[in-house]
Formats: sequence, structure tokens, C-alpha cells
Amino acid sequence: MFRITRFSGFFSAAMFVIVLVILSPSFQSEAIRSSHRFSFRKAPPFRNAAECGSISGETTTVCDPSLVHVAITLDVDYLRGSIAAVHSILHNSLCPENIFFHFLVSDTNLQTLVESTFPNLKFNVYYFDPNIVAHLISSSVRQALEQPLNYARNYLVDLLESCVERVIYLDSDLVVVDDVAKLWSASLDSRAIGAPEYCHANFTKYFTAGFWSEPRLSGTFAQRRACYFNTGVMVMDLVKWRKEGYTKRIERWMEIQKSDRIYELGSLPPFLLVFAGHVAPIEHRWNQHGLGGDNVKGSCRDLHPGPVSLLHWSGSGKPWIRLSSKRPCPLDSLWAPFDLYAHSSS
Ligand SMILES: *[C@@H]1O[C@H](CO)[C@@H](O)[C@H](O)[C@H]1NC(C)=O
Repeated sequence: MFRITRFSGFFSAAMFVIVLVILSPSFQSEAIRSSHRFSFRKAPPFRNAAECGSISGETTTVCDPSLVHVAITLDVDYLRGSIAAVHSILHNSLCPENIFFHFLVSDTNLQTLVESTFPNLKFNVYYFDPNIVAHLISSSVRQALEQPLNYARNYLVDLLESCVERVIYLDSDLVVVDDVAKLWSASLDSRAIGAPEYCHANFTKYFTAGFWSEPRLSGTFAQRRACYFNTGVMVMDLVKWRKEGYTKRIERWMEIQKSDRIYELGSLPPFLLVFAGHVAPIEHRWNQHGLGGDNVKGSCRDLHPGPVSLLHWSGSGKPWIRLSSKRPCPLDSLWAPFDLYAHSSS
């Protein structure tokens, strides 16, 4: 459906452009989203520190047990964010060559762009078929939350190579300002996922009154101390996940949502339904979330107290949008150094 054309010869060595050509007229809405040119500067080279041990560049396979695995989506609308996230991870890692990236895509092949921006990066690109979730997605308050690719995190066990036993899933609107290897080595005990938990957040509001008044549904939380967590930063044990069949359990709640409308948001609530109270707690420094604030109201957010290893612009506002419109929030200056965006035209 899409063809990617590379015009690298027309530009300086450090720049390239891809043009996404829409061949199928039946993809009008996608055409509007995708008919942009992207150009990213080449990221600075990265190398392992001496103490990292050697991981032989050419011969490494995805199954090498010394790799750190990171999964992230490449959505056309969030591409600038994804590229900045990868850049931040490499920049702040002691052993960047030990990181293997798993890029999840659904509407186009962005492999060429990744290769040109990050030469020597270890990565694979995985196609996530939107049809897998199309029939499970209900209309949501915020349209952006309903991009099928938002649900790809539920299918990592099916998408990634079976030798990958643990993966860090990261949203596209964040930067890592610490060594991601520390997050990688977090203890999950016997849990399938680890994430920072927020037990003081009002958990009630993520589900409808109808959900809470129906014990058959809300009873699922009866025997657990369910706390909110954000699905934008998760350490996942894929072996455990596969064994417990979590993909299907999440899908079952999505099916209930189709008929009963038990929540308003998109991909987050089914994760809360399955995992809240069963999450291995990870230090809050690994998800300083909510920095997106609100674009419509123009509100900015401040950091939560405490140390910071990862800054997450969740919420409707995104730093690249505000920087482009020359109305940045103060904390957007912490995202900007990782931005590799060079040029765009429609
Ligand atoms: C939590 O949220 C619910 C639903 O929005 C609301 O009715 C309730 O008052 C809130 N509780 C607290 C303690 O703020």
C-alpha cells in the first residue's frame, strides 16, 4: 500500500528525506496523516564504554543474552518523538551497543529512516496489523488514543522473536535521561510486568459508574490493592506473559467494553483491569509522567518531587508541537536536546 522512496543523494550526507507515496485510494485518511516528508539529522555516533564487555557488532543476533531489549512504536504522527526517545537512550547509556530496539509499525515501513538516522543501530522492524484490534476498538473520548498501534504493546509476545524473554516497552513521547540498563535490571519478582505505581491517584475515575455498580465486572478488583500505573513505561517478562495468556485476557476486557462501555480512555484501562495490583513496583523516577499538559488550555506541568530518570510528556500536549509553534512549556527544553528533526513539508 505504501512505497518509500529515498532521495538521500540530493541532500548532504547528514540528511535524508523519505517520501511516503500513497498508492491505494482507499486509504484517504491515512494519506492525510502520512503524506509528509520527514527529515532527521544523523545522530552522533555512539560506542560502548570499555567496561561493557565486547558485543561483536556484525555477528550479534537478537537472541544474544547480553542484549537490552527496548520496544517502541514508530507512528507517523509521533515519529519525531520516537526518534528523540531512541537518541536519548543511546546518549545516556554506558553500553549503547548492547541495546536492541524493536520498532513496531503499522502504516508504513520506516526502516530506511531508522538506518539513516542511527547508523549501526541494532534493531528490527515489526509490522503490527491494525486489523488485529480494529474490531476490538471502541470510539474514545480522545481520538489519538485509538490509533491501533497503541495496542501493539499487548501483542509483543506474538511480534518479537521467541528468544526475547524480557523487553522494556516505551511510549514515543518521552526521553530517558539515565542509563536504561538500570531499568532493564529491575526486579519483577514473579510478576509479568513492572511499572511505577501511583496508589494515591483516584483509581475510580478510570472506569464508568456502570462498571463500578456491576459487581460481576468491578469484582475483578475485589481481592487486590489496585493502583493506577501508566502503560507508557513497562518492563515486561514475555515468558511469564505468554504462559499466563495475558494478551487474551486484555482482549476479553476490550470485548466487554464494546458492549458495556466500562471505561472512557483507550488502551490503558484494559491493562489496569488485568494488572493493577499485580504490578512489580518500579521507582517513580522511571516515569515522570503528565508533562504533556493540555494543548487546548495551554497549561504546562511541573515535575513531581524526587529524582528523574525518564521524562514523559503524556497528556494531550507534545513538546515537538509546542516547540514548532514557538510556545514551549519550560520543561520542553529538556526534550529539545534529543530532537533530531531537520525539516518537514507536506
Ligand atoms: C474519584 O473519582 C470519582 C469519579 O470521577 C469521583 O466521583 C470521586 O469523588 C473521586 N474521589 C476522590 C477522593 O477524589
